[in-house]
Amino acid sequence: MHDSPIIAVTRRVPEAALEVLRTAGAVSLSEADRPLTPDELREQAAGATAIVSMLHDRIDGAVADAAGPSLRVVANVAVGYDNIDVAALAERGVTVTNTPGVLTEATADLTFALLLAVTRRIGEGERLLRAKRPWSFHLGFMLGAGLQGRTLGIVGLGQIGQAVARRAKAFGMEIVYSGRSKADDRVEAELGARRAGFDELLAISDVVSLHCPLTPETRHLIDADALRAMKPSAYLVNTTRGPVVHEAALAEALAHKQIAGAALDVFEHEPEVEPGLLDLDTVVLAPHLGSATVETRTEMAVLAAENVAAVLRGDPARTPVAP
Ligand code: DGY
Repeated sequence: MHDSPIIAVTRRVPEAALEVLRTAGAVSLSEADRPLTPDELREQAAGATAIVSMLHDRIDGAVADAAGPSLRVVANVAVGYDNIDVAALAERGVTVTNTPGVLTEATADLTFALLLAVTRRIGEGERLLRAKRPWSFHLGFMLGAGLQGRTLGIVGLGQIGQAVARRAKAFGMEIVYSGRSKADDRVEAELGARRAGFDELLAISDVVSLHCPLTPETRHLIDADALRAMKPSAYLVNTTRGPVVHEAALAEALAHKQIAGAALDVFEHEPEVEPGLLDLDTVVLAPHLGSATVETRTEMAVLAAENVAAVLRGDPARTPVAP
């Protein structure tokens, strides 16, 4: 009789996912309930056949080597997988999976919540009330920007970008997008979206919303030059990965009113936030809440668990990442 495969889980996951994992092997759950240090991660991985990882875990060749030759699958509980060295794992014959689809609507909702919060100054208004500062209604009080007829520039019209575009269309916005490839004619027609070059998108958008994955090409895509290319009345929304934006350049641009505001759910050095952003009233900040609904987080974890179970059974993973 073979020993049960060991499934290393780096952070607490919903019970529904644990139930699936227990059908596939012996679950070794990190006790720490915080991001593991690189040493702890290697220790947690030692001897594992599967690793269920979180977006803050850096899973590279060293972690795979710490796991040893038994390692067959790394299931990231996130759609983004910039934390995983997919090539190093592929070289070692390890399948990598992510969780596309299940978090699309929740992330698009949060994107729109941030977009509305920054354009209508909701955070700023709330801070004013909580500070018990005097105020009274008048026609020029805390005016923001309306969305009707304004242009939303979507960088990366993948599943989440499209879900954001659907919401924007319902708010009467014009949609332009940029990205490596052109969307289907049908998708463009449904969304009323037009493909533009990145420079044009920056120049004409009233709101720029980032939905591209973090890759070497998109790291610091929004830098000082890109920010200078935006309208002074424009807003930036980032719900993808922090390093797509050069955060210090953004703080500088906001402090000098080069753009009107920014709403950020993700940070370049997460969980740290660039100090220059913290005091600016034109910034809305959220602690990586894009997929943070009970249903979505459960579906993400269950999908990751099903990927593990499939690979350990010898079946194809449900949502593998291409090496
Ligand atoms: C992801 O899945 O990549 C998200 O950032 C988690 O919310």
